[in-house]
Amino acid sequence: MTLESGQNCGNSEEVFDFRKKPAGYNPTTYVLNRPVFFVGFMGAGKTSVARKLARMASVASMDLDAYIERHCDKKISDIFAESGEEAFRSIETNLLDELAEGDPQLIACGGGIVLASRNREILKDRGYVVYLKVTADEAAGRISDTSTRPLFNDLESARKTMAGRLPLYESVADLTVDTAGRSTGSLAYDIFETLKKEGVLCQQK
Ligand code: S3P
Repeated sequence: MTLESGQNCGNSEEVFDFRKKPAGYNPTTYVLNRPVFFVGFMGAGKTSVARKLARMASVASMDLDAYIERHCDKKISDIFAESGEEAFRSIETNLLDELAEGDPQLIACGGGIVLASRNREILKDRGYVVYLKVTADEAAGRISDTSTRPLFNDLESARKTMAGRLPLYESVADLTVDTAGRSTGSLAYDIFETLKKEGVLCQQK
C-alpha cells in the first residue's frame, strides 16, 4: 500500500495543527496486535512520526537507536568510532530481536536496519512495516547535526547509499508513505487511520 505525497492536502507547504482534533479523531485508547516498525533513510522522520502516533493512539513507542544508546551507555557515534559499524550492526540486530519479542509497540528503527537479511526477516515476520520515504536531498535539509549520524558524510555519498537501500526498504514495507512536503503530525494521522483499517491498531475494549 502506498500513501502518496500530498494525497490529503492541496499544497506542498501543508501545515497540520495537531491541537485541532481532526474529523474522526477518537480519544479512545488502542492496542497493537503486533509491533509496528518504522523504516526509512536518516532524516525521514521515523522517531517523530512514531512519537506523534503513539500520543494519538495512546500506545508505547521506542526508538531503537535510543534503546541501543541506553543499553551500551554510549552515543551511537561513539559506538561507531570505538567499535566500528560491524559491532554496531550486531547490537542493533540483537536489540531489534528483543524489542520484536516484547509487548507490541511502535518501533522507530535506524536507517540501516534493512541491511541485514536477519533484520529484514524479523521486520517482515513479526511486525507491520511502515516505510517513510525521503530523498537523500530532502534528508540533508532535515538533519541539522550530521555529526550524530556517522554514516551521513556528504550529499553525494548519501545519494548513493540511499539508491542502494531503496529496494531493501521497498522489500520489507507493508505501507509506503511519501514524506515530501508533509508535517510529522499529518503523516502520523494518515498512518493512524491506515493501521486501524488494516486491523493492526484495535480499539481497547
Ligand atoms: C544509520 C542511521 C542512524 C543510526 C546509525 C546508522 C544508517 O539512525 O542507526 O547512525 O545506517 O542509516 P537514523 O536513521 O535514526 O538516523
